[in-house]
Amino acid sequence: MNENAKKRGTGKQEMPDLPAVEVGKAEAPVKEEKAAVTVEAKKKILFVASEAAPFIATGGLAEVIGSLSKALAHNDKYDVRVMIPLYQDIKKEYRKDFKFLGNTYVALSWRNQYCGIFEYQQDNVTYYFLDNEYYFKRPGCYGYYDDGERFAFFCRGVMETMNFIGFYPDVMHCHDWQAALAALYLKTIYCFRPEYQFIRAVFTIHNIEYQGKYSLDILEDLFGISYHFRNLVEYDRCINLMKGAIECCECFSTVSPTYAQEIKDPYYSHGLDPIIRRNEFKLRGILNGIDPEYYDPATDLSLFQNYSVDDMAGKAVCKEELQRMLNLPVRPDTPVIAMITRLVTHKGLDLVKEVIEQALRQDIQFILLGTGDSSYETYFSDLARRYSGKVVSIISFNSDLSRKIYAGADLFLMPSKSEPCGLSQMIASRYGTVAIVRETGGLKDSITPFGAGGNGFTFHDYNAYDMLYVINEAIGVYHNREVWSNLVHKAMTTDFTWASSARCYEEMYLGLLK
Ligand code: GLC
Repeated sequence: MNENAKKRGTGKQEMPDLPAVEVGKAEAPVKEEKAAVTVEAKKKILFVASEAAPFIATGGLAEVIGSLSKALAHNDKYDVRVMIPLYQDIKKEYRKDFKFLGNTYVALSWRNQYCGIFEYQQDNVTYYFLDNEYYFKRPGCYGYYDDGERFAFFCRGVMETMNFIGFYPDVMHCHDWQAALAALYLKTIYCFRPEYQFIRAVFTIHNIEYQGKYSLDILEDLFGISYHFRNLVEYDRCINLMKGAIECCECFSTVSPTYAQEIKDPYYSHGLDPIIRRNEFKLRGILNGIDPEYYDPATDLSLFQNYSVDDMAGKAVCKEELQRMLNLPVRPDTPVIAMITRLVTHKGLDLVKEVIEQALRQDIQFILLGTGDSSYETYFSDLARRYSGKVVSIISFNSDLSRKIYAGADLFLMPSKSEPCGLSQMIASRYGTVAIVRETGGLKDSITPFGAGGNGFTFHDYNAYDMLYVINEAIGVYHNREVWSNLVHKAMTTDFTWASSARCYEEMYLGLLK
C-alpha cells in the first residue's frame, strides 16, 4: 500500500472550531458575531459523485473528486462537502474512523428505504457516506442489474441528507450519470421547499459514453419522478439521465476545453450532440489537474528511489529496478515505452495492435499494465509471450506497480480515440516520463508537440502509422541525451496542478450565485 495514500488517510483535519456561545459572559457576543460572519461568508459547495479517492476509486473520476474538492477547500472561501455511497469496498483504514450521524428514510416511489449517514473530515473537506446495505453491500461499484435503482436511492438520499444535517449548499455539483438524478430531484421535487429553493445545480460530464439509459416505464414507479416531467429526461424513447441533468442544471461542464468542443460532434457524442448543442450556452470545458503532493517522485514511497527535477539520479535507478523486477534485460539506453490503461477500444488499442510489432523491430522495451476487454487481455498476454525479454503485459491493476512504471519508463503512450481529459499523461509527465498522445480531448490540452517546443509527442489523426511515426520520432529524440533531458525537464515542470482550473470552477460557481 502506498504510504502517501496512508498519510492522506490519517491526515485527519478538524473543521475550524467556532467559539462556544456562553450566555452570560461579557465578551461572548462579539466573538460570536465574528464567527458567524466568517461562516456565513463561505460559499457552500456540495459534490455529489459515485466515487472519491482515497476512499474508493475505479478511475479518474474518483481522483478528480478527491483532489478538486481539496483544492477548493484549501481556499478559505468555501465550505466544501462531498457525498458518495458507502460501498462495501471502502477502505477499512478510513472506514473505522467514520462517525455515524444517524439515519433518515428515502422514498423511491412506493419504496421507503433506510439511509444511514456517516461523516469523515479530511483536508478541510467534509465527506458523507450514504449507507444502505441492500444497495451497496456488494463487491465493486457498478455493473449490477439494478444500478439505476441504486443510484436513484443515492441521489434521493443526498437530497434527504441535506435536510438531516441542515446543510443546503449554494451549489450542488453533480458528476456523471450516477449523480444526475440529484439535479433532477432538485428541479422537479425539492426546489418547491423553501430551504432548497436557492440551490444551484452544476453537472460535470467526465465521460459522455456512459449516460444512464433506462426504460421510460420506470420514471414514476422507480425514480419517483412525475410523468409530467418526462420531457426533461426523455431521449430516443428512453430515460437518459445525463440528458436530464444537462437540461436541469444552471451550468454544465466537461473536463477539458477540447472535449467540450468535441462532444458537440456526433463522432464523440455517443448520440447526445443535439442536446449538447442546444445547451451550449451553459457549457464550459475545464481541464482537470492532479494532486502534486499525491503524485510526487520526490516523496512517493512506491518508488525504488526518489528523485526530482533537480536531482534525476533516482530515475535511472527506478528504470533499472523496474527492468529487473519485470525480468527485462537491464539496459539503461534502451527506451522503455509504457501504457497504463483500461483495455477498452476508446483507449486506442487497435492502433497499438496494428503497428506494435513494427515498433518492436527496434531496440525498445514495452510494458503494459491494465485490465479490460478479454480480447485485448488475450492479445497483449500473447504479445508478451512472443516477445519475451522485450514486452511485458501485466493484466491486472495495481497502484503501487503503476507508480513504479510511471517512474521507471521513458515514454508513456496514450493514443486514445477519445479522451475527456486523461490523468495518466499528466502523472507520467510529472515523473519525467514523456507522453506520446493523440490530439484529442484533454490529451490535446495538456501535451504539446515537441517540434513546437512542447512537453511531449502528439499526432492528430486516428491512424496507426501516424502514431508509429511519432513513436519513432520520440525514440530518435531519446537517443540525443541533451535534447532528451531538456524535454524531460519540460515535462516535469509543466503545471498540472489544480491552481488555474480550480479558479475556473470558482468563476463558474460565483457566476451562478450573483
Ligand atoms: C473519466 C474520463 C477521463 C477523465 C476522468 C476524470 O474517467 O474517461 O478522461 O480524466 O474521467 O475527469
